[in-house]
Amino acid sequence: VGATTLAQWPKVRRVWLFVDGTLLAILGDTVIDELGLDGLDVHVLEVPPGETSKSIAGLARIWDWMLGEGVDRSDVAIAVGGGVVGDLVGFAAATVLRGIGFVQVPTTLLAMVDSSVGGKTAINHPSGKNLIGAFYQPARVIVDTEFLATLPDREFHSGWAEVIKHGVIEGSTPGGEMGVLLDILRRNAPALLARESPLLPWVVRRNISLKASVVDADEKEASLRGILNFGHTIGHGVEASGYPLFHGEAIAVGTVAAMRLAAMECRIGPEEVETIEHLIADFGLPMRARVDPAEVRRHMEHDKKKAGGKQLWILPNREGLVTIERDVDPAHVDAAIASVVAG
Ligand SMILES: NC(=O)c1ccc[n+]([C@@H]2O[C@H](COP(=O)([O-])OP(=O)(O)OC[C@H]3O[C@@H](n4cnc5c(N)ncnc54)[C@H](O)[C@@H]3O)[C@@H](O)[C@H]2O)c1
Ligand SMILES: [Zn+2]
Repeated sequence: VGATTLAQWPKVRRVWLFVDGTLLAILGDTVIDELGLDGLDVHVLEVPPGETSKSIAGLARIWDWMLGEGVDRSDVAIAVGGGVVGDLVGFAAATVLRGIGFVQVPTTLLAMVDSSVGGKTAINHPSGKNLIGAFYQPARVIVDTEFLATLPDREFHSGWAEVIKHGVIEGSTPGGEMGVLLDILRRNAPALLARESPLLPWVVRRNISLKASVVDADEKEASLRGILNFGHTIGHGVEASGYPLFHGEAIAVGTVAAMRLAAMECRIGPEEVETIEHLIADFGLPMRARVDPAEVRRHMEHDKKKAGGKQLWILPNREGLVTIERDVDPAHVDAAIASVVAG
């Protein structure tokens, strides 16, 4: 953060800083001091960790605080935390006074490689996740992989599912080469998992530019941005089916299912499926979940309705690309689901 970040708003005097409660507990005020906001009027609000903060009540609390303390249009909101803080504060920044400056400082792997980039902000509603929100681009995303040192293993592993997703779609992203990311992941899994590899910042940077290139080409998800949902069609169904999985874990299961589905559709061979399965195992992610396949299908049906009645499949092919498909054999879908949900 600091001078370079805020140069965009020369008149900034006041910063509304939102910090994830876990981070504050671990790092205390150093997390604030290190942001280099000297000379600015900094107001700090702790955001309680966990998905329940991404709620109407959580948002109202932020609005009340900012409006009560006299926020004005030239102020900037900075979100320091994972996807929860980023999504929530992003939506608050988009809506308070019809929009104030917004900066993301992601501190989880998932937030660094995925949620902080692309401008999707949201809160949850009792009828589902992320149902109320806005596209609102952060002016800056400031990433420091040193934050990852304190992230619990399970959270860290979960983030790799989105990295593997980016690896699968890399060839179909604007300017993206094919297989570069997957290759790096394959060769360096233990070092990356140990969080020591000098490659870690490179991997994070590559993921950000890859996602940014897709979002640049299609911000509102008219077509290309849909490829970022690779692994999420069945993955969301699994995630919603009640078994306590982290998002990335459910997406890992959905990724395995999508690869197997692509093989059943004769788009790829067993080697491609195996490569991804190995990666998922190497990064400490599950390949199956104990959920009821009928529940998975029910939630997929629900997602489909919300998306305007179209079930879209993002599937890889032998050329190393992914394409968005509508016509997939339902029997193959059932078989792919069955292959990942059995006990
Ligand atoms: N906007 C998007 O495009 C997008 C994309 C994917 C996911 N999401 C959203 O992101 C959210 C998930 O994000 P997440 O996985 O980052 O979860 P999160 O924000 O809940 O963070 C995970 C946990 O890690 C803790 N934490 C954060 N940083 C830490 C650190 N450096 N050290 C130790 N602990 C730390 C948090 O307190 C929390 O308990 C979901 O709400 C999801 O809907 C949004
Ligand atoms: Zn995801």
